Amino acid sequence: MIDSNQDAFRPVSDPAIDYNILDGAYIENPLPTWDDLRRRCPIAHTERWGGSWLPTRYEDVQALAKMVPALSSRSSLVFDLPEELDSDLVTGPKGAAPLSSDPPEQTWTRKALLPHFTPKMAEAQRPFTTTVCADLIDSFIDDGRCDAASQYSEQITPKVITHMLGVNKDATHELIEWVKMILNLGLEGTEWTEYWSLIRDFFASEIQDRRFNPQDDLISKLTHTEVGGEAIPEEVVVGMCALQLVAGIDTTWSVISSAIWHFAAHPEDQQRIAADPSLWPTAIEELLRFYSPVTSGRNATRTIEYNEVTFQSGDKVLLNFPAANHDPEVFENPQIFMLDRKENRHIAFGVGIHRCTGANLARVEIEVALKTWFERIPRFSLEHPDAVCWAGGGTRGPTRVPVIFG
Ligand code: HEM
Repeated sequence: MIDSNQDAFRPVSDPAIDYNILDGAYIENPLPTWDDLRRRCPIAHTERWGGSWLPTRYEDVQALAKMVPALSSRSSLVFDLPEELDSDLVTGPKGAAPLSSDPPEQTWTRKALLPHFTPKMAEAQRPFTTTVCADLIDSFIDDGRCDAASQYSEQITPKVITHMLGVNKDATHELIEWVKMILNLGLEGTEWTEYWSLIRDFFASEIQDRRFNPQDDLISKLTHTEVGGEAIPEEVVVGMCALQLVAGIDTTWSVISSAIWHFAAHPEDQQRIAADPSLWPTAIEELLRFYSPVTSGRNATRTIEYNEVTFQSGDKVLLNFPAANHDPEVFENPQIFMLDRKENRHIAFGVGIHRCTGANLARVEIEVALKTWFERIPRFSLEHPDAVCWAGGGTRGPTRVPVIFG
C-alpha cells in the first residue's frame, strides 16, 4: 500500500532495508548510497512506495535484466501503480509495447520498430536536430544567460521525435504537454489515465488518417507494417507510437541537461572539450555512464531465489542501470568523470531483450545538442548553483540549470 506522504518525509533509517529513491539528497547524489549498498547489501529492499528491491552491482543488474519472463516487464515503472490505475490501458499489452510487454509480443513489436532506428535512420535526423538547436540558441543567446534545461534540452528531444513520427506542427505543443504531465504526475496522478487516454486517442486518430493518407513518417510506416501477413492491431500501434515520446524525450533531455550542468560546474572539463572536439565520442559515452538517467522496473511472476535474496511473486525489482555503471568491479575509478575514458562498457541503454531501440537516435541528439552549444557558447558557468534542481525516480536528471555565458 502506497502512503506517499509517509514515504516521502520519513527519514531513512538504513538504506539497506529502507532506501528512498525519491529522497532529495539521494536524487541529487546517489553515488555514496550505491557504494555503501554495493559493499554491504548489494540487493537492498524498501517498503516505501509500495515496496521494491534495488540491486547495485553490474553483474546482478545484468543477470536480473536477462531473467525473462520470471521478471516481467508488464509494468516497467519503478513503482506499482495504485490498483485503481493498474489497468490494461497503462500496463500490459495495450500499454506501450515493446517496453511494457514480455515475449512473444515484445519480440515482434520490437522487430517492427528496429528498422526505423538504425544508425542510418538516426543520422537522417541530424540536419533537423541541428536546426532546432541553432534556433533555440538564437532565441536566448543575446540575453547572456538561460535555463539550459527548460530553454534548451527539454525543447530539443520532443521536437525531434514528433518530427520523426510525423505529428502535425500545430498539434505538437499540446501533445508534448500531455506527455510531460504523464512524466511528472508520479503516483499522485489520478489524472494519469486521463492524459494517457488523450495521448492514445491522439495517435488513434493519426493512425486512422495514415491508413488512407500514408506519409513518409513513422506513424504511417508502423500503421502499414505487417507481421505474419497481417497489419499490427491498431491498439498496439497506438502504444508503440506513444512509447516513442514517453521513452525518448525525458531520457535524452536528462543526459543533455546533465552534460551542460557538468561542464558548467567543472570548468577544467569545459575548457578541455572546447579546445579539443576530438574528445566528443568518448565524452558522450562517459556522460551516458556517469549520468545514466534510466532505472526500470520489473515484477516477479513467481518466487525467485537469487543470490541469497527471495523475490516473492508480484515483488517489484528495480533494474538500477545507473548504479551498475558505477561498479568498481567493472569500471576503473568509477567515481571519476574521465572525458577520454577508453574502456567503457556502460549499460545506460539497458541490457537484454529490452535494450533501448532509440540508442542511435539518442546519441545523435546528444552529440548535436552539445556540439552546437559549444560552437556558439564555448564558455559558461552556473549562474545560481543553489537553484539547480534534480528530478529522480525512473529518470534522473537536472530540471533547472541556470547558466550565464562568457
Ligand atoms: C539517452 C537517452 C536514452 C536512454 C538513457 C534510454 C534508456 C533506455 C533503457 C535503459 C531501456 C531499457 C528499459 C528496460 O529494460 O525496461 C530503454 C528502452 C527503450 N527505449 Fe530508450 N533510452 C534513451 C532514449 C530513447 C529514445 C530517443 C527512444 C526513441 C525515440 C527510446 C525508445 C526506447 C524504447 C522503444 C525502449 C523499449 C525497447 C524494448 O522494450 O524492447 N529511448 N531505453
